[in-house]
Amino acid sequence: MTDAPRPETDLRVPDDLSGITAEQYRASMRHYPAGVTVVTLSSPRGPVGFTATSFASLSLDPPLVSFNIAHTSSSLSAMLDAASVVIHFLGEHQQHLAHRFSRTAEERFTDRSLWTTLDTGEPVLHGTPIWLRATVHQLIPIGDHTFVVGLVTRVHDNTDEKPAAAPLLYYNGRYYRPTALGS
Ligand SMILES: Cc1cc2nc3c(=O)[nH]c(=O)nc-3n(C[C@H](O)[C@H](O)[C@H](O)COP(=O)(O)O)c2cc1C
Repeated sequence: MTDAPRPETDLRVPDDLSGITAEQYRASMRHYPAGVTVVTLSSPRGPVGFTATSFASLSLDPPLVSFNIAHTSSSLSAMLDAASVVIHFLGEHQQHLAHRFSRTAEERFTDRSLWTTLDTGEPVLHGTPIWLRATVHQLIPIGDHTFVVGLVTRVHDNTDEKPAAAPLLYYNGRYYRPTALGS
């Protein structure tokens, strides 16, 4: 006697033939909102940084966070060699930094008034409500990105400043500030 087919478990579709188009994937992801970060690091060739919305908190004990870097990114080789990163949670007043760090790589650090260097060597962007320093804990190539896991070693929190800066959000190709629903 054969069991009736169970649709969920009988769908043995190989990963590379998932059946959705790149446009379907992109269109669905555009509708997923995210906070905006800039990841920075030091490299032998100077400071490196890029805008990233793939940030996520991962673990409390130990304190781990993650983000993804594209294999096409000009920051990839520096990221793969880096021992540590700084992850900036941008405020709504820092949209210009989100733009700057997603455009021409050579110009990202040209304005010296926008950043300083930590005693540990990583660049830090002025006026950022919260930044985390993390040592690189694991690098996992997955698909067309590498998943970076960082162990948080330092938290710089300016959110008790008045007025507190609201976080910068990204949704459907545009930047937003949050609006509370009710109280
Ligand atoms: C809102 C936003 C979010 C982004 N998130 C990521 C990300 O999570 N990972 C990543 O590798 N690139 C991300 N990018 C792209 C990079 O910031 C950058 O534009 C890209 O790496 C091209 O830079 P390159 O010319 O130095 O290669 C994002 C760009 C934007 C505008």
